[in-house]
Amino acid sequence: MSHVFPTYARWNITPEKGEGSWLTATDGQKYLDFTTGIGVLNLGHCNSKVKAAVQKQLDQYWHTSNLFQQPNQEALATKLAETSGLDAAFFCNSGAEANEAAIKLAKKATGRKKIVTCVQSFHGRTFATMGATGQEKVRIGFGPMLDAFEYITFNNEEEVKAAVDENTAAIMFEIVQGEGGINPATESFLKTVQEVAKNVGALIIIDEVQTGIGRTGKPFAFQNFDFQPDIVTCAKGLGNGLPIGAMLGKAELKEHFGAGTHGSTFGGNPISTAAAIAVLDECFQDDFLQEVVAKGELVRSKLKTALSDVQLVNEVRGLGLMIGIDLKVDAGPLVLELQKEQLLVLTSAPHVMRLLPPLTVTIEELDLAIEKISTLLKKVPTPAV
Ligand SMILES: Cc1ncc(COP(=O)(O)O)c(C=O)c1O
Repeated sequence: MSHVFPTYARWNITPEKGEGSWLTATDGQKYLDFTTGIGVLNLGHCNSKVKAAVQKQLDQYWHTSNLFQQPNQEALATKLAETSGLDAAFFCNSGAEANEAAIKLAKKATGRKKIVTCVQSFHGRTFATMGATGQEKVRIGFGPMLDAFEYITFNNEEEVKAAVDENTAAIMFEIVQGEGGINPATESFLKTVQEVAKNVGALIIIDEVQTGIGRTGKPFAFQNFDFQPDIVTCAKGLGNGLPIGAMLGKAELKEHFGAGTHGSTFGGNPISTAAAIAVLDECFQDDFLQEVVAKGELVRSKLKTALSDVQLVNEVRGLGLMIGIDLKVDAGPLVLELQKEQLLVLTSAPHVMRLLPPLTVTIEELDLAIEKISTLLKKVPTPAV
């Protein structure tokens, strides 16, 4: 009997060694890993620069608490601020915690109650972020929820105009919905959000937990557009496997998050921040980001060509190396079939196959994955409508 709570439906794969885009299991099977720990290993498994930075910090000190000066936090916050156009960072340990901080800050800074979020969003599993998440299934059995969240249809400009008013603390959403089906925001939705928020003095919170740290070919996905949020959250790729989250905000918000307002024992710990500094040194380089854009365009166009006559496929979409293949059937069983072919991919919403390769993936590895996916999808019968 397992003594771990059964909160996860686990695959029948036991990892032994990860290297770059590849994961070897204890039974000797070697997989091309396009799950990257659900969008975490942007620099691949066991990246040598991140490893060296962590090892250096391990030899210095591991933990002190946030009562002490934190040079790594200062250095990391400076890099994040310079890149995002925001001014201050609060460090925590996960995406949900970053969003939790954002929700608290928006409410405190505005003195308002309502947060508008989107249907099919995902913001985390804590009490507040579960409420923010626009998917009923994550809330079943945990009610009543916090009386703060109101949901609109993603990309619906009329609904955002109607929902955001003088009681709105913030509107919060992802630039590409990562768990809800790889749904990118439209440019006109973003424009409307910016206008509506400005008119009533509501803040804009962008959840970049899955889209951030180079995944879409920009440091943050909102930078693909002419758009500036007030608060941005990130986690996942920030530590390349070391647990860390961050909430970034504009300078005028600093006074609302003073000493004693919020905190975390492990938040911004020296080891995870050392990893994150090494991650950003790689992921925020212009040439690195340009390669992500090029590889993203290439893989989407090759997938579209390879799958053009496959009736089962509705659409190939995404941004950078965040790719969704929208299917006429549930993607779950196909993900398991691909495991037999030594390729690891994810689902996003039941009918979307999600590919989150490391940003360091090679063209040969992308071609191999396309070959395996198209071979499988060509064999699956299209359901009768
Ligand atoms: C967009 C988004 N926000 C928040 C979260 C929650 O992050 P974590 O699991 O680190 O709490 C996730 C996790 O998948 C996510 O994709």
